[in-house]
This record gives sequence, C-alpha cells and structure tokens, in this order.
Amino acid sequence: MKRALITGITGQDGSYLAEFLLDKGYEVHGGVRRSSVEKFERIAHIRDKIELHQMDLLDQLSIITVLEDVAPREVYNLAAQSFVPTSWNQPLLTGEFTALGVLRMLEGIRTVNPDIRFYQASSSEMFGKVRETPQNEETPFYPRSPYGVAKVYGHFITVNYRESYDLFATSGILFNHESPRRGLEFVTRKVTDGVARIKLGLARTLSLGNLDAGRDWGFAGDYVDAMWRMLQQDEPTDYVIGTGIMHSVRDLVELAFGYAGLEWEAHVMEDPALRRPADVEHLLADASKAKRDLGWEPQVSFEDLVRMMVEADLEALGR
Ligand code: NAP
Ligand code: GDD
Repeated sequence: MKRALITGITGQDGSYLAEFLLDKGYEVHGGVRRSSVEKFERIAHIRDKIELHQMDLLDQLSIITVLEDVAPREVYNLAAQSFVPTSWNQPLLTGEFTALGVLRMLEGIRTVNPDIRFYQASSSEMFGKVRETPQNEETPFYPRSPYGVAKVYGHFITVNYRESYDLFATSGILFNHESPRRGLEFVTRKVTDGVARIKLGLARTLSLGNLDAGRDWGFAGDYVDAMWRMLQQDEPTDYVIGTGIMHSVRDLVELAFGYAGLEWEAHVMEDPALRRPADVEHLLADASKAKRDLGWEPQVSFEDLVRMMVEADLEALGR
C-alpha cells in the first residue's frame, strides 16, 4: 500500500487531497499543529480513515520525527500561512512558515529518506506584477507581497534541492482554486457567503476591495489530482496548473448575486481599506505542459464552481 504524508491536511487542499488519496487506496497521514481546540471540520468526515501527527513547520525536530514514524513514499507540503493580506501584518511569521518551512521539510527528507517524493505547493502569486500573459513555467517571477516573496523562496529551494541532492522534488505552481471549503476571508468564499447571508436576511451589504482584479479560478478538487499526477512521473519537474480563463472580481460578484436572484449593485460596497498595499492585478495560466505531460484537464467551470459555492453557503446558513 502506498503511504502519503500531507502537511496542512486541515486546510482546503489538504482535505480534498486526503479524500483523493484514500480513493486511490493510499494510507493517508496528516501533519497538524497543536491547538488548544481542534479545528478539524474539513476532515471530520474522513477522520477515522486517516492518521494525524503533531508537527509544525516551525519545528525541525517534529518534522524529522514524523517522517521517521510514518515512513511515507510521498510527501505533499501544503502547510503555509496562505492569506496574502496577513503577510503584510505578519511578514516574519509568513517567511518562517511559507519560506523556511519548505527548507525544513526538504532537510527532513534529506536526513530521513532521500527517496521520498516531495510536492511543494507553489503559487501563481509568484508571478505578481506579471512579466507576460499567460504565465507558464518559464515566466519570470515578480512577487507583490511578503507571501509571494516567501513562495518564491519555497519554489527555488525545492528546485535547488532537486538539483543539489537529486531529490524527487516537484513544485506545482497553482493558480487560485476554490471550493465550498475555502476559508471565509478569500474573495470567492467571502462573496458566496455574503450572497447567502443577504439572501437569507442575515445581512444587507457586502464590503469588498479591488473589483477589477482578475484571477484564473478553478475548483480545488481538480487541482489535487494534478498534485498527485506530478509525483507519479518518471522525472521530477515543475508545472503550472490553471484553467486558462480569467475573470474579474466584478464578474464573480455579478454571477454569485445573480444565482441568488439578487442585484449586486444594491448590496456591494467598495471599501478602500480592503485594497492591498500592492495588488496582483491579473493572473492567467498557460497549463499546456501539465495537459501534455500529466494528461490533466480541469473538470469544473468557473460558472459551475460559483454556483456550487453559492448553493453550499445557502444550505449551510439555512440550516
Ligand atoms: P489553507 O486552507 O489556508 O490551509 C493551510 C494549512 O496550513 C492549514 O492546514 C494550516 O493549519 C496549515 N499550517 C499553517 N501554518 C502551519 C504550521 N506552522 N505548521 C503546520 N501547519 C501549518 O490553504 P489552502 O488553500 O489549502 O492551500 C494549500 C497550500 O497551497 C498553501 O501552501 C497555499 O499557500 C498554497 N496555494 C494555494 C492556492 C489556492 O488558491 N488555494 C493556490 C496556490 C498555492 P491550521 O488548520 O492549523 O491553520
Ligand atoms: N480576500 C479578499 N477580500 N480579496 C479581495 C476583496 C476582499 O474583500 N476584494 C477584492 N479582492 C481581490 C484581491 O485584492 C485580490 O486581487 C483578489 O480579490 C483575490 O484575492 P484572494 O481571494 O484573497 O486570493 P489571492 O489571489 O490573494 O491569493 C490566493 O491565491 C493564491 C494563488 O494565486 C491564496 O489562496 C493564496 O494562498 C494563493 O497562493
């Protein structure tokens, strides 16, 4: 039986990846950091099928101990401080988790078992102020936030350990991916939760920042499949993953309010305080390498994704 360790298993992607690997017959282990209250809502439905281990990306010894105890064949490093605005408020902590945390994982693997296959959760945020459109694996990076800068470090240290120590280390440069399990502070979920609250009479308005920002949004369930495919290749390399279609935040808002039969202009307020010190204006993926080498294709359209999220939020709040 194949055995995998997922860091960040309590997060959006970690929960979908755990489900995906269980379906493939894997023994699934997750690294979780200690908390005074357990926050395992996203994995509650599979809690009895997976094994959890206390580990923290800030703590090298905990990483080595879990790698020794679990002896995984594949490690998916999804843990990170992943919310871009927080990276301006906590830039040092973001660097510790999101940049040096990757190095601690790679050092753990090099120490415990260099044959482990390693996936690093890199991000389209690295393209930032984009140098070309669409963005592919060769597009130069120009990060626009402490988070983006930390992800560039995580990406290049993964490439460097592959080239220096011959590790099977891959970096998936994933564009934005969403789901009903998305954290409430990210714009898609903030909008679909806001729509549901307004529809159900629990709120009247929704405050947003930059409505002109454009993103290549896909469904998280499709993207964990790409992560797995990357670790099944003969040789490790890096892949861009995205849909190749961009929409603005305004498009997202129009669509989500429309699904609920609401006029968005009557409810959405633009709040300058929600704008970022430096925003990423437009992101658009060229995932042709992944399509060719991995046979990967996104299955859920933007329209179906937004509908799925609005319906899930209406149902959850309705209950
Ligand atoms: P998420 O929902 O915010 O989950 C982040 C996970 O990291 C949580 O399980 C969190 O644990 C864990 N974590 C944070 N700091 C940790 C630490 N010091 N030690 C151990 N665990 C820690 O993020 P996501 O959307 O699933 O994204 C997964 C990964 O992909 C992240 O690295 C993110 O930066 C990257 N990424 C995401 C996207 C996207 O659009 N979703 C796109 C590109 C890249 P707690 O539950 O304890 O907080
Ligand atoms: N969060 C948020 N809240 N974003 C808003 C709002 C708002 O009220 N109003 C407008 N936006 C705009 C942001 O300015 C940004 O341009 C865009 O919506 C998307 O914001 P997020 O949903 O917070 O995602 P992100 O693109 O910054 O980061 C996500 O995607 C990255 C991949 O490109 C995160 O998942 C990162 O972890 C991931 O790496």
